[in-house]
Amino acid sequence: MPAITASAPAKTILYGEHAVVYGQPAIAVPVRDLRTKVTIQALPGMPANHVEIISEEAGVRSFWLQLPQGDPLRISLDLFLRHFKLAHLMAMRIIINSDIPYASGLGSGASVSVALFNALAAFCGLQPPPEEINHLAFEIEKLHHGTPSGIDNTVIAFDSAIYYQHDHPMEMLKIGQDLHFMLIDTGVRSSTVQAVSDVRSLLNRYPDLYSPIISEIGSISQEAKTALALGDAALLGQLMQRNQALLRKLNVSHPAIDLLVAICEHSGALGAKLSGAGRGGHVISLLGSPENKVLAENLGDNGFYNFRTFTLARQTWSD
Ligand code: PMV
Repeated sequence: MPAITASAPAKTILYGEHAVVYGQPAIAVPVRDLRTKVTIQALPGMPANHVEIISEEAGVRSFWLQLPQGDPLRISLDLFLRHFKLAHLMAMRIIINSDIPYASGLGSGASVSVALFNALAAFCGLQPPPEEINHLAFEIEKLHHGTPSGIDNTVIAFDSAIYYQHDHPMEMLKIGQDLHFMLIDTGVRSSTVQAVSDVRSLLNRYPDLYSPIISEIGSISQEAKTALALGDAALLGQLMQRNQALLRKLNVSHPAIDLLVAICEHSGALGAKLSGAGRGGHVISLLGSPENKVLAENLGDNGFYNFRTFTLARQTWSD
């Protein structure tokens, strides 16, 4: 039996992180140049449930049933078996490779889950729709995040720019013109669980102060949806700036994020903000053109060398 390979992209949140946890809409897009790849090889002659798992990046080289009970990879395989009502797994070797940095706002955990479930399904001759893969990945997100909104697994499982609001049907977005972004790594790793829990504490203690901020972030996502459909890059940049100012008020920015946002502003970018949980991770910046040499130079001058551009392609859904 030939090896099976499945892969899944990274993601970035353009608008609405944190507010999305409280039922507000948010916008996320896949970053297809950064991927998790899962390869599964059959191990003929080995007994059922002999499942080797190798992930160099996560430092895992183990057998499924020897992983600790709470390990997300172990739970993923248990869940897969239960969900598809399989009596056992055929002997196999699962190799996971990812170029998505961990704990940096790019959805590394959800990307591993989606690629893994797609690879396992293909290996077992199953063809679940993206909704089903999304549902499984969401279960694993709960282990990583505690109370995830579901945006990471959804944007990655559907591999499409989405407008996401919990308990509403997910919408695939219209994009009126090609938009060019730069993702810049602050180099600071941060905990999503901690940032989400700190925002929750603020909201619980001072609801009058913080609830309006959450609602305003939701309004920004709504405006951004229309601006994306129109391809209004200038307005999209302004909305990113407004969103960043509100995220600072929620205390999820970081000196490195503030510095990067200022560098982007002074280098002619249309807007910039943190992306994901904040407190580190990546800054997402909207550029007016596919490249911004001044910005790249200014980043280097300030010691930031880890950045990449990507294009969100025009998408009208009637093309
Ligand atoms: O840090 P990330 O990339 O997993 O993004 C978290 C986004 C939050 O809105 C802060 C949490 C969530 O579950 O939506």
